[in-house]
Amino acid sequence: MTISPLGRPVDRVDGRLKVTGAAKYAADNALDRMVHGYLLLSTVGRGTIRAMDVAAAERSPGVLAVYTPFHPLKLFAAGGFGGPPWLPLQDREVRHYGHIIGLVVAETFETARDAAALVRVDYDVRPATVSFTDGIPNAVPPQGGPGGGEPPVLDVLADGVPSIDAALAAAEVRVSVSFSQPIENHNAMEPHASVAVWRDERMTVYSGTQGATGHARGIAGALGIDAARVHVISPHVGGGFGNKAATWTHDLVSAAAARALGRPVKTVLTREQTFTVTGHRSAVAQTVALGARRDGTLVALKHEGISSIGITGFTPENGPFTTGRVLYRTENMHISQKVVPLDLPAATFMRAPGEASGSFALETAMDELAVALRMDPVRLRLRNYATVLPGTERPWSSKHLDECYQLGAQRFGWHRRSPTPRATPDGDWLLGMGMATAIYPANRSDQTVVRVRLRPDGTASVATATADLGTGMWTVLAIMGADSLGIPLSRVKPELGDSLLPPSAGAFGSQSTATVAPAIRAAAASAIKALIDLAVRDERSPFHGLDPAAVRYDHGDLVAADRRLSFGRLLGQLNSAGVEASERGTGGDPERYEFHSFGAHFCEMAVHRRTGEPRVRRLTTVADAGQIVNLKAARSQMVGGAIFGIGQALFEGSSVEVPSGRWANANLADYLLAVNADIPPIDVHFLNHPDTPFNPVGVRGIGELGNVGVAAAIGNAIYNATGIRVRDLPITLDKLLD
Ligand code: MOS
Repeated sequence: MTISPLGRPVDRVDGRLKVTGAAKYAADNALDRMVHGYLLLSTVGRGTIRAMDVAAAERSPGVLAVYTPFHPLKLFAAGGFGGPPWLPLQDREVRHYGHIIGLVVAETFETARDAAALVRVDYDVRPATVSFTDGIPNAVPPQGGPGGGEPPVLDVLADGVPSIDAALAAAEVRVSVSFSQPIENHNAMEPHASVAVWRDERMTVYSGTQGATGHARGIAGALGIDAARVHVISPHVGGGFGNKAATWTHDLVSAAAARALGRPVKTVLTREQTFTVTGHRSAVAQTVALGARRDGTLVALKHEGISSIGITGFTPENGPFTTGRVLYRTENMHISQKVVPLDLPAATFMRAPGEASGSFALETAMDELAVALRMDPVRLRLRNYATVLPGTERPWSSKHLDECYQLGAQRFGWHRRSPTPRATPDGDWLLGMGMATAIYPANRSDQTVVRVRLRPDGTASVATATADLGTGMWTVLAIMGADSLGIPLSRVKPELGDSLLPPSAGAFGSQSTATVAPAIRAAAASAIKALIDLAVRDERSPFHGLDPAAVRYDHGDLVAADRRLSFGRLLGQLNSAGVEASERGTGGDPERYEFHSFGAHFCEMAVHRRTGEPRVRRLTTVADAGQIVNLKAARSQMVGGAIFGIGQALFEGSSVEVPSGRWANANLADYLLAVNADIPPIDVHFLNHPDTPFNPVGVRGIGELGNVGVAAAIGNAIYNATGIRVRDLPITLDKLLD
């Protein structure tokens, strides 16, 4: 009898490959006759290329080709989901600083890079619009709503209340505050890379992606060939954070060059190139106004956001709709989103797009309201606890956020907090405590198909074209396979990261676990049914002739009366290659329920009295994310999310020069990220209430939940330590000097 690994702390099944260096990432692929591409990028913010002198580059020994708008690679349909809506090399327009204007292909990377440095480009430069701050007064409503569908403004007003401002004016206590945060870049450890092979009229691309199915489609469109002739291979992804969801243009030119030259082409982006060839998180400005009664009851909530958009004309960074809209009960609410179109690269999905920025504004404003009310911040949140989506009658399928607050406060020692700033010195440091809420939609997809196959060697494969970008998806497939089939983990062979596998919607929106888990359950049940059908049908089977209802599946064995045989032995005896079934999962009714994951962060900060240096002392997170599949990897996800939030709070920000549009700190020396020395002990606890109205397994996603609210918890703790309120991220030490 096998104990199910579901919900237990399980080592990653790909862990050994990772730590021994055996895991092959895109750029690790070296093929016969492979050559190297090096991208040429625009060095002005806007304009037209007048001429490119490529003679010296072409003459360089080892150079095979220099592709430019004057000697292009023909590309057909643009991008695909979330990617740039234009194709490089097809015209001489410069749309933003740092996009592809050429590709040098040579026998070695160094030759290609050095030749690229010899190319001279003449531009007719036009002024680029790149300042977010300057654009704010002229912000416009997003086309098609902030998330593509919703209208960009939502008002919920109680009977007789003429406007949100009237509701605010009538409130006994008010706060109205503005927030800003700069553009952020994902900086996955693995830079974007592509190895493209054209053979027998088929394209194989090794490229780290969050969705092999969509990636193959995007590349096929650009090459003008059928999607069935493109094979994307992406078993390991060294971080994506949303920036490997879209198909970016380096994949397209690299593939086109491989086809044109008849040789495999490897193109690896430099760190600097990743900043502008791929996507970023929008710059965001927000205003939150809260009105409350003296007892803390919210009577008015106004949350307005403005986000920058670049070349795609789209941003998912719509914090007011994903936080202010959903988090607190209030009679009157105004939510709005605007955008500032700029001549910049693509604003794209970045871990909790909208929620990360929105929660910083909303949860800081809530802290400010707590100060104004002289009320404990946890109590204020419980006072305004929502059990239905504000302004509707729709309840959450499963919400235990109140338990997160209470248990988090207890684990953290919140009762020791003094509400008075500067009241807790520790030598040269001032200590403070702060908290904030985490919220992220519980998503799942009906587009994903999982195939479960029972094999004569006694193993079972669980296959779908989803991705593991460090999330632990390899292990989720193995655990769910073992759980659904009642066999040991070691007998389950997960397969993912390959576009030839059953199609997947891709690994984004924290949807993967809730998508695959119920699909695996369903496919396992169907595969078992197929096994029983085979067992009673085949004359060589000991179960031959029995009523299928008389045959039972029990932990890897078929059982009927006095007979018991493992599926491996049975399939072997029948000379069967195996039985399989493919299914999609099922999920809950969005008309009936709201689906979200929740959490609470509690943070202790130390701020140096003289230098202003802020340091995170400790962090406690309690998450309400349904049934947890792998306690160990889930904890990693939450810790990773917290680290992401620490980066947002204290370090990260891209500087775009005005008016050139040049990305001034596009490297890991000047773009600061949290490193090991910045990360304190992080205490993570899961409530583990299965959300079965959401899906039969009761699981919800956690990939993005962890970073939502961390920046606010940190800022609130800094206020508690110092009495200084910083509403402009990142909170660097210069902002904390008295
Ligand atoms: Mo996530 S930003 O949807 O990869």
